[in-house]
Amino acid sequence: MRRSLETCVGSVRLDNPVMAASGCFGTGAELLGTVDASRLGAVVTKSMSAQPWAGNPPPRLHPAAGGMLNAVGLQNPGVERWIADAMPRLVDAGVRVVASIWGHTVADFEEVAAAVAAVGDRLAAVEVNLSCPNLGGGGDAASRHMFAHDPAATAAVIAAATAVLGSVPVWAKLSPNVVTPVPAAEAAASAGAEAVVLTNTLIGLAIDARTLRPVLANGTGGLSGPPLRPVALRMVYEVAAALPEVPVIGVGGISTAAHVVEYLAAGAAAVQVGAAHLADPRAGLRILARLPKALARCGRSSVADLVGAAHGGRR
Ligand SMILES: Cc1cc2nc3c(=O)[nH]c(=O)nc-3n(C[C@H](O)[C@H](O)[C@H](O)COP(=O)(O)O)c2cc1C
Repeated sequence: MRRSLETCVGSVRLDNPVMAASGCFGTGAELLGTVDASRLGAVVTKSMSAQPWAGNPPPRLHPAAGGMLNAVGLQNPGVERWIADAMPRLVDAGVRVVASIWGHTVADFEEVAAAVAAVGDRLAAVEVNLSCPNLGGGGDAASRHMFAHDPAATAAVIAAATAVLGSVPVWAKLSPNVVTPVPAAEAAASAGAEAVVLTNTLIGLAIDARTLRPVLANGTGGLSGPPLRPVALRMVYEVAAALPEVPVIGVGGISTAAHVVEYLAAGAAAVQVGAAHLADPRAGLRILARLPKALARCGRSSVADLVGAAHGGRR
């Protein structure tokens, strides 16, 4: 029997639910010679700002707890360079492109959104990164302020971005560094986001037991990979239960088709694969190839049939 992998995230129809997560697939274009990215549901680009941004000093990556800490700090060439260089190559290769954007202020987000709006008809969606834990850095919690930790700030950014982006679907990428993501998800949806992406990385720290100093130059970093999975899964489940009308995209620790099934059952309409792509750029395609069997194993004939199944009759 043919199993349908098609899924819809709000108004965005995807051939399958497996996307590449932001920051783990380069600008999107570097891997085109190695991976047929057009077979993925979509590719989310590295988060881009209006101006080029150097990110944090090295060391920026460290293995931790079966996953990894990163403090790349949103390094990117600036949105205009991406539009001129990487985006046309992706579109020409038949890749569904989701442009990820970030800024320090609402005005920054407006500026980068305006640049992206000019090519909006070639994009599947725009993902607004409200949740990078690696800006400002150090041990100073105040300097790590994230829009996604404040529903009013979340709404302000999303309202500004949606106003500029017009009919281009907007997704809000939220933080796991909160007790519950529901207020931010609600604020994002009320301000015009078509979907929420759960989650970005968890704030963590590694100390070198010999030098007794933080390993990463930034001090803290964002934890991704397997240890993030139960946390992000819980947040997907919680938002799907509280806000059943808001499409959710799950991301965190996905490296097998069974993990995709878990997220879809928790209520995600689609998923993104992050750190697993750093180890193997074909991870998403490998997971996708195994998804039909994983669906069969839980007795489902389509992705749509599985979304939200873990909620039983409660949704
Ligand atoms: C090296 C690295 C760079 C990342 N850069 C970004 C980024 O630019 N924008 C963003 O929204 N998320 C970024 N992320 C977060 C991922 O998109 C994803 O949300 C997170 O890693 C959890 O998924 P995973 O456990 O599958 O890696 C980055 C993650 C890693 C490991």
